[in-house]
Order: sequence, then C-alpha cells, then structure tokens
Amino acid sequence: MTAKIRHFLDIDRFDTATLRGILDRSVALKAAHKAGAGERLLLGKSLAMIFEKPSTRTRVSFEVGMRHLGGDVVVLRPGEMQLGRGETIADTARVLSRYVDSIMLRTDSAARLEELVRWATVPVINGLTERSHPCQLMADIMTFEEHRGPIDGRVVAWCGDGNNVAASWVHAAVRFDFELRLACPEPLGPPLKLLRWAEEQGGRVSLTDDPAAALRGADCVVTDAWVSMNHDGDESRRNLLIPYRVDEAAMAHAKPNAVFLHCLPAHRGEEVTDGVIDGPQSLAWDEAENRLHAHKGILAWCFDV
Ligand code: CP
Repeated sequence: MTAKIRHFLDIDRFDTATLRGILDRSVALKAAHKAGAGERLLLGKSLAMIFEKPSTRTRVSFEVGMRHLGGDVVVLRPGEMQLGRGETIADTARVLSRYVDSIMLRTDSAARLEELVRWATVPVINGLTERSHPCQLMADIMTFEEHRGPIDGRVVAWCGDGNNVAASWVHAAVRFDFELRLACPEPLGPPLKLLRWAEEQGGRVSLTDDPAAALRGADCVVTDAWVSMNHDGDESRRNLLIPYRVDEAAMAHAKPNAVFLHCLPAHRGEEVTDGVIDGPQSLAWDEAENRLHAHKGILAWCFDV
C-alpha cells in the first residue's frame, strides 16, 4: 500500500494533535540548533520552491532550514521557467516530482496550489496564497507560546485587513482553542464562509469594526500590511484602514503584558507605528526568526522523519 503524501496546505486540514506535534518538533529543532546539535534529518532530500510572488522570509527561512537539515533547495521563478511561458501546473508538478522530494509554492491563486497538489507525487507546502498563510501561523503560535505559555484560552486581537493571514489566524483559533477577535472595516472583513466554518467548529471567533473593543484585555495584538501584493496603490483601502492602525494608544487597550505580532514586511506609519513594532511588547523579530524553526518542523513532518 502506498503511504499518503504529507502535504502541508492549511491549518484547518489538520487535527490539533498533528499541529501540536509539528510545533513541538519545531521547538526541539530550535533548541538543538541553538545548542549546536542539529541533526541532518533530510540528507539527500530536496525542495523546489516556486515563487510566483515576492518573498524575503519564506524564501530564506525555507532555504536555510532545508540546508540545516542536510537537504538541498532549488528556487524557481515563473519568469525563468516554462511555467511562465504557458506550461501547465499539472505538467510542471509531474516533472518536478521526478527531480525533487518536495515542492513549495507561493502564489496568488489557491486554485493553482490545488492543481499542483492534484498532480504532484511528492509533498507540497503552501508558501502563501491569496486565501491563507499557514506556515506563518505555525511560527506565530510558536512565538506567542515561547514568551507567554500555552495559547489555548488566551485572547488574540487581529486589527486591520481581513486578509489571508487573518484567515489562517481563524483556522488557528479553532485548532488551538483560543479566542480570536477580528477588528476589520466592514468591506474588508474575512470571508463569511470562513467565519461560518469557525462557528460550526465551536470556535470563539468574532468580527467587529471597533478596534478598541477587539483589543480590550487581549493577550496578543496582531496586524499586517494594509496593502498587500494584490492591492498596490489602492488608496481607498488605506483610507478605510487608518482607524485600525496599531499605535501606542491602541496597544493600551490590551493587557499591560500583551505581545504584538506582525508577520512582516511592515509598512511603518501605516498599519503599525515605529513605537509599537520597535517597542518592548513587539515580538516581530523573534516571530521572523521562528519562521526558520517552524519550517524545519513542517519539513520534518512532510518527510515523516
Ligand atoms: N511574512 C512573510 O511571508 O514574509 P515574506 O513575504 O518575506 O516571505
């Protein structure tokens, strides 16, 4: 019997025990790396990374993480591949599966990711789509817990655009059992279907257009860029989001020991002030570092090692 391919696609597709296992492994791999005792778990294995959208953190952390584990990487951009000249995702998936042992895709089309999964015969990792960013969330949960202990039962406030990262926070709230309050301008809330899913699952996810109400008593405040890769130059979005900027006054609504998370890149002066992202409550840099360790946990899970 052929073993099921271990794709890492979205947090809602996993049970809590599997996600916990990946996080525990990430924490252990981080500790081993810091102690100079990292294991070459993926010796002889390879990862192809296709970037249809730009990246700093995802690209570097997966590449370095793969090398820490003894593996190799190939970075591909559509402009340098036949994919950019009309070769199908299906054919690309079948060919790459003959060369490499895993594939990561960053794309603005979740449908293209699904097509890749349909045809690939090796594990596929979601490196971000317009719908979700699950790798980011594994690093975010790891970072919160590193500083504040278990996230279950805590209150997380998302302030800003109800985008792909917010969607993965909704998935995480259900699977990791914390309360998530989303503060978004009415036209920029997350998809209603996603909120219905959270409700059906018994999740504690609420949506408001009042940032102060969402942040009141929160353990963790999160935001993201207002203008993402698909909305460059959209001034009307910026205007809607101005009341959702996370500044010192907004942070004062949260608990005094609340932490601030931002997946980066930050647009300082837009969604967050310098005072907050560079301030004592910000974990943004630990969060960025933990992309490396969380990705190693994800890779170890995908390869079942
Ligand atoms: N947060 C994040 O995914 O960063 P990059 O776009 O730099 O990969």
